[in-house]
Amino acid sequence: MKIIIINGPNLNMLGIREPDKYGTESYSDLMAKIRKYCEDRNIEPEFFQSNHEGALIDRIHQAYFEKADGIVINPGAYTHTSIALLDAVKSVGIPTVEVHISDVTKREDFRRISYIRQACCFTVMGQGTDGYLRAIDYLTEKTGEGI
Ligand code: DQA
Repeated sequence: MKIIIINGPNLNMLGIREPDKYGTESYSDLMAKIRKYCEDRNIEPEFFQSNHEGALIDRIHQAYFEKADGIVINPGAYTHTSIALLDAVKSVGIPTVEVHISDVTKREDFRRISYIRQACCFTVMGQGTDGYLRAIDYLTEKTGEGI
Protein backbone atom coordinates (compact mmCIF):
# COMPACT_ATOMS: atom_id res chain seq x y z
CA MET A 1 0.00 0.00 0.00
CA LYS A 2 1.43 3.36 -1.04
CA ILE A 3 0.61 6.49 0.98
CA ILE A 4 1.87 9.98 0.16
CA ILE A 5 2.48 12.21 3.18
CA ILE A 6 2.25 15.84 2.12
CA ASN A 7 3.16 18.76 4.34
CA GLY A 8 2.58 22.38 3.45
CA PRO A 9 4.20 25.67 4.39
CA ASN A 10 6.33 26.07 7.50
CA LEU A 11 6.11 22.40 8.45
CA ASN A 12 9.79 22.05 7.52
CA MET A 13 10.30 24.27 10.59
CA LEU A 14 8.81 21.75 13.02
CA GLY A 15 10.72 21.68 16.30
CA ILE A 16 11.80 25.29 15.76
CA ARG A 17 8.48 27.03 15.08
CA GLU A 18 6.20 27.69 18.05
CA PRO A 19 7.10 24.52 19.99
CA ASP A 20 4.28 25.24 22.47
CA LYS A 21 1.84 24.58 19.60
CA TYR A 22 3.67 22.14 17.36
CA GLY A 23 6.03 20.32 19.74
CA THR A 24 9.79 19.81 19.70
CA GLU A 25 10.11 17.05 17.10
CA SER A 26 11.76 18.14 13.85
CA TYR A 27 10.39 17.40 10.39
CA SER A 28 13.08 14.69 10.07
CA ASP A 29 11.94 13.19 13.38
CA LEU A 30 8.38 13.18 12.05
CA MET A 31 9.42 11.38 8.88
CA ALA A 32 11.43 8.80 10.86
CA LYS A 33 8.46 8.16 13.15
CA ILE A 34 6.07 7.66 10.22
CA ARG A 35 8.59 5.51 8.34
CA LYS A 36 8.97 3.21 11.37
CA TYR A 37 5.20 2.98 11.82
CA CYS A 38 4.75 2.11 8.15
CA GLU A 39 7.58 -0.47 8.11
CA ASP A 40 5.80 -2.49 10.76
CA ARG A 41 2.60 -2.43 8.68
CA ASN A 42 3.82 -3.09 5.17
CA ILE A 43 2.99 0.43 4.00
CA GLU A 44 5.21 2.34 1.60
CA PRO A 45 5.25 6.03 2.65
CA GLU A 46 6.47 8.82 0.40
CA PHE A 47 7.14 12.25 1.82
CA PHE A 48 6.77 15.67 0.29
CA GLN A 49 6.99 19.09 1.89
CA SER A 50 6.75 22.45 0.17
CA ASN A 51 6.16 26.05 1.07
CA HIS A 52 4.59 26.65 -2.37
CA GLU A 53 0.94 26.09 -3.19
CA GLY A 54 1.55 25.07 -6.82
CA ALA A 55 4.17 22.51 -5.84
CA LEU A 56 1.68 20.93 -3.41
CA ILE A 57 -0.93 20.78 -6.18
CA ASP A 58 1.58 19.17 -8.56
CA ARG A 59 2.43 16.55 -5.93
CA ILE A 60 -1.25 15.69 -5.44
CA HIS A 61 -1.64 15.25 -9.22
CA GLN A 62 1.48 13.07 -9.32
CA ALA A 63 -0.12 10.79 -6.71
CA TYR A 64 -2.81 9.99 -9.25
CA PHE A 65 -0.34 8.94 -11.94
CA GLU A 66 1.60 6.88 -9.38
CA LYS A 67 -1.63 5.13 -8.41
CA ALA A 68 -1.20 6.01 -4.74
CA ASP A 69 -3.68 4.36 -2.38
CA GLY A 70 -3.99 7.31 -0.04
CA ILE A 71 -2.83 10.80 0.81
CA VAL A 72 -2.21 12.26 4.26
CA ILE A 73 -2.01 16.02 4.04
CA ASN A 74 -1.28 18.79 6.47
CA PRO A 75 -1.72 21.82 4.24
CA GLY A 76 -0.56 24.24 6.98
CA ALA A 77 -2.03 27.69 6.49
CA TYR A 78 -3.23 26.78 2.97
CA THR A 79 -5.95 24.81 4.76
CA HIS A 80 -7.65 28.10 5.48
CA THR A 81 -7.12 29.81 2.13
CA SER A 82 -6.74 27.40 -0.76
CA ILE A 83 -9.62 26.44 -3.00
CA ALA A 84 -6.95 25.28 -5.47
CA LEU A 85 -5.78 22.58 -3.06
CA LEU A 86 -9.39 21.53 -2.49
CA ASP A 87 -9.84 21.20 -6.25
CA ALA A 88 -6.60 19.23 -6.57
CA VAL A 89 -7.78 16.63 -4.05
CA LYS A 90 -11.16 16.48 -5.78
CA SER A 91 -9.39 16.03 -9.14
CA VAL A 92 -7.50 12.88 -8.19
CA GLY A 93 -10.20 11.03 -6.26
CA ILE A 94 -7.65 9.42 -3.91
CA PRO A 95 -8.78 8.85 -0.28
CA THR A 96 -7.24 11.79 1.57
CA VAL A 97 -6.98 12.51 5.28
CA GLU A 98 -6.43 16.05 6.59
CA VAL A 99 -4.10 16.35 9.57
CA HIS A 100 -3.37 19.23 11.92
CA ILE A 101 -0.89 18.93 14.74
CA SER A 102 -2.71 21.55 16.78
CA ASP A 103 -6.43 21.76 17.45
CA VAL A 104 -7.40 24.42 14.91
CA THR A 105 -10.88 24.72 16.41
CA LYS A 106 -9.39 26.12 19.63
CA ARG A 107 -7.25 28.82 18.03
CA GLU A 108 -7.94 31.99 16.04
CA ASP A 109 -11.27 32.16 14.21
CA PHE A 110 -9.57 32.21 10.82
CA ARG A 111 -8.20 28.71 11.47
CA ARG A 112 -11.71 27.26 11.79
CA ILE A 113 -12.27 27.36 8.05
CA SER A 114 -10.86 24.43 6.09
CA TYR A 115 -11.46 24.44 2.35
CA ILE A 116 -9.78 21.10 1.81
CA ARG A 117 -11.92 19.30 4.41
CA GLN A 118 -14.86 18.79 2.08
CA ALA A 119 -12.67 16.67 -0.22
CA CYS A 120 -11.21 14.62 2.66
CA CYS A 121 -12.63 11.41 4.08
CA PHE A 122 -11.34 12.11 7.58
CA THR A 123 -9.70 14.85 9.67
CA VAL A 124 -7.36 14.43 12.63
CA MET A 125 -6.38 17.40 14.76
CA GLY A 126 -4.95 18.28 18.15
CA GLN A 127 -3.10 15.00 18.59
CA GLY A 128 0.39 16.33 17.95
CA THR A 129 2.43 14.41 15.39
CA ASP A 130 0.67 11.17 16.38
CA GLY A 131 -2.17 12.56 14.29
CA TYR A 132 -0.26 11.46 11.16
CA LEU A 133 -0.26 7.88 12.48
CA ARG A 134 -3.99 8.05 13.18
CA ALA A 135 -4.50 9.26 9.59
CA ILE A 136 -2.56 6.24 8.32
CA ASP A 137 -4.65 3.97 10.57
CA TYR A 138 -7.77 5.44 9.03
CA LEU A 139 -6.56 4.89 5.46
CA THR A 140 -5.43 1.33 6.12
CA GLU A 141 -8.62 0.34 7.88
CA LYS A 142 -10.74 1.97 5.19
CA THR A 143 -9.10 -0.03 2.43
CA GLY A 144 -8.88 -3.18 4.55
CA GLU A 145 -5.07 -3.37 4.43
CA GLY A 146 -2.35 -3.16 7.02
CA ILE A 147 -2.71 -3.39 10.81
C1 DQA B 1 -1.45 23.47 11.23
C2 DQA B 1 -2.49 24.52 11.66
C3 DQA B 1 -2.53 25.68 10.68
O1 DQA B 1 -3.50 26.62 11.10
C4 DQA B 1 -1.19 26.35 10.62
O2 DQA B 1 -1.20 27.39 9.68
C5 DQA B 1 -0.08 25.40 10.35
C6 DQA B 1 -0.09 24.10 11.01
C7 DQA B 1 -1.31 22.36 12.25
O3 DQA B 1 -0.67 21.36 11.92
O4 DQA B 1 -1.79 22.47 13.38
O5 DQA B 1 0.88 25.71 9.64
O6 DQA B 1 -1.91 22.89 10.01
